[in-house]
Amino acid sequence: MSELRFDGRVAIVTGAGGGLGKEYALLLASRGASVVVNDLGVDRKGTGSSKRLADEVVELIQSRGGKAVPNYDSVEQGEKIVHTALDNYGRIDIVINNAGILRDRTFARISDEDWDIIFSVHVRGAFMVTRAAWPHMKKQKYGRVIVTSSTSGLYGNFGQTNYSSAKMALVGMCNTLSLEGQKYNILCNTIAPTAWSRLTADLFPPEAEHLFKAYYIAPVVAYLCHDSCTDTGGVFEAVGGWASKAQLYKSRGVFMKKGEKFTIEDVRDNWKEVCDLSRPVCHTSNADTMASIIAMSERASSDKDTGSDGGGVLSAIGYEFETTSFSYTSRDVILYALGVGATLSPDNQSELKFLYEGHEDFSALPSFGVIPAQQAMTGLVSGGVSNLNIDLSKVLHGEQYIELLQPIPTSGTLYSKATIVDIMDKGKGAVILCDIVTSDENDQIICKNQFSTFVVGMTGFGGKKTSSVEKPLLPTPKRSPDSFMRTKTMDTQAALYRLSGDLNPLHIDPQFAAMGGFSTPILHGLCSYGIAVRHILHKYAGGISSKLKSIKARFAKPVLPGQTIQTDMWREGNRIHFTCKVVENSALVLTGGYVDLTEITTDVPSSLTPQEPSDDLKSSAMFVAISEQLKGRPELVKKTQAIFLWNVTKNGKTVTQWTLDLKNPPGKVYRGPPKKGKADCTLTMSDDDLIKMATGELDAQKAYFQRKLKLSGNMMLSQKLGAILKSQGKSKI
Ligand code: NAI
Repeated sequence: MSELRFDGRVAIVTGAGGGLGKEYALLLASRGASVVVNDLGVDRKGTGSSKRLADEVVELIQSRGGKAVPNYDSVEQGEKIVHTALDNYGRIDIVINNAGILRDRTFARISDEDWDIIFSVHVRGAFMVTRAAWPHMKKQKYGRVIVTSSTSGLYGNFGQTNYSSAKMALVGMCNTLSLEGQKYNILCNTIAPTAWSRLTADLFPPEAEHLFKAYYIAPVVAYLCHDSCTDTGGVFEAVGGWASKAQLYKSRGVFMKKGEKFTIEDVRDNWKEVCDLSRPVCHTSNADTMASIIAMSERASSDKDTGSDGGGVLSAIGYEFETTSFSYTSRDVILYALGVGATLSPDNQSELKFLYEGHEDFSALPSFGVIPAQQAMTGLVSGGVSNLNIDLSKVLHGEQYIELLQPIPTSGTLYSKATIVDIMDKGKGAVILCDIVTSDENDQIICKNQFSTFVVGMTGFGGKKTSSVEKPLLPTPKRSPDSFMRTKTMDTQAALYRLSGDLNPLHIDPQFAAMGGFSTPILHGLCSYGIAVRHILHKYAGGISSKLKSIKARFAKPVLPGQTIQTDMWREGNRIHFTCKVVENSALVLTGGYVDLTEITTDVPSSLTPQEPSDDLKSSAMFVAISEQLKGRPELVKKTQAIFLWNVTKNGKTVTQWTLDLKNPPGKVYRGPPKKGKADCTLTMSDDDLIKMATGELDAQKAYFQRKLKLSGNMMLSQKLGAILKSQGKSKI
């Protein structure tokens, strides 16, 4: 994987004369950044001043071939520090607010001065430097800002009231800066480091010096400052090579006001529930919080107004199922991968790791996370939830969301806890939202699922139409897909997939399927879901499971075993929107889907896969076939050394273009004009005539003389093309 570089970027690191700041400056400079090394050169209490600290770091960077200039101002002189960057390098891209001092005292002994100086250096200093850089970042629509907090702020620390308060003020600063900066691509994150430095030398045992070296924090901070990192508003703890994201969680809370009356006694009586953190929720914005409170308040008043649900369907919201355990081995992981069509085809070698327990990267597909989870809510349809009498034949799996917090272990025991988090009344039926948290034996959360179950005919119970806790689908981009991938399922696909746990006879028993109105047993929706995940992993994540953060999709129509599933993909940053269709009848089967990845890797070895035939042109499928025929024949590039451009016309107008690049190794077929170099030979023909020529109904030479085939550029090359394709024995072009 390529090195993350900062060439052309200009960074200010405050307090970079020693400790953590020095490591940040050294690392950024070693990766190409020009660095302003700011340091006032004070002692750890903030007294004195010296140029030595900043100068030494600058000399070190320069001696290693890097670019750096010193700045000796206090961070309270933010303008001057930013000017140093502008005067020397003409721009400012990265600000790492790191300078800091300590004035530790127990609360009662803190003097005004001890309080004020801590706020001046940490909070006002970060404000002054960042504010001076902000207009430049806004103008250039690029910026990365780091503020430095501390676990002393996040959790409190004896004798540090002044410091803890200032460090939490910085979290608040970052929360709002990230909101204000986002539209200008200015991203702001908080680091809460723990490292051996002169600030902490007397706090840690001596062995910590080796374990908690300051340079173990630098890669985390540098990553947060890199172009490729799109996080903002995050708080990251880091120590000794470990990093973790910290987040505020709260209890679900309880709406205590019934009607107009609300008393202290209501609070007392509900206090246990107010404080119940066993099912925490995480709101990442004020808007989220307000939406959830409004929904709860509406639900409370709708219970009161209509009395429609008196102890009925809506009382099941909040129902918690018993925790279930799921023990499995590598065989189950492999069986699942086979169930969702993992192959060992030559163009998809990356899937061996899902099928072979001896592979060095043996891993579970991320969508395997639905398997332990689905068992945790079987009580939903078996009468296990009082007030919810659901007829199994009326149940449809509506939508599925899964979020991966850790790679799924390849064997072990996982524990899943399911909770009904909302029930909506959609008019034609109810949607029951079930959140399932799956953890390992050490209580580490592995994944979170949200199953949306549609119950036909369950209506009139006073439920809302929408839910604030529902994981939303996302609209599919309007443009043609950026790429696609296909899997032809086997007629035994459902028979294979069911062995992973969903034994519903609808997927295997023809008589049962007929009762449900299906001509044959249908494929599990989650099987198509797993196939889509494989496709996206292959196209955009280098086949690496751990790059996938979350997946959401709606099950729109069933797939029959034996049909071909095509996943159409659109990339937007690190998000891949997708839909799936059945190639044989064009029916959309998964809709509104998206996958969030930690990073994109597109250099998968599928070099000849063309762009998706996103139109109704017959010839698009033909180009797909040509691409298939050319796969695994790199020698053709050597022999041909030419780029062909096809203009496909309809009613006399060019409606699409295809490039056959047999010049740049390893060769490629794709929609659109050549991406590298110019076409050596351009062929223009109507969609219909192309198909006639492909099927042998129209001879290429005759077509040329009848002006049905127009050629420009090096016409001799067209003969080479014909010979190549004929030699494949599959095409008559
Ligand atoms: P350090 O004392 O080694 O480095 C801080 C640097 O900031 C010093 O070189 C100092 O001269 C400079 N500085 C102080 N006041 C300044 C001002 N007004 N203007 C410009 N420069 C000034 O300390 P360390 O450990 O590297 O700390 C860096 C940051 O990380 C601080 O904000 C600190 O509060 C924070 N932090 C450190 C932790 C640790 O475990 N080392 C834990 C949590 C937070």
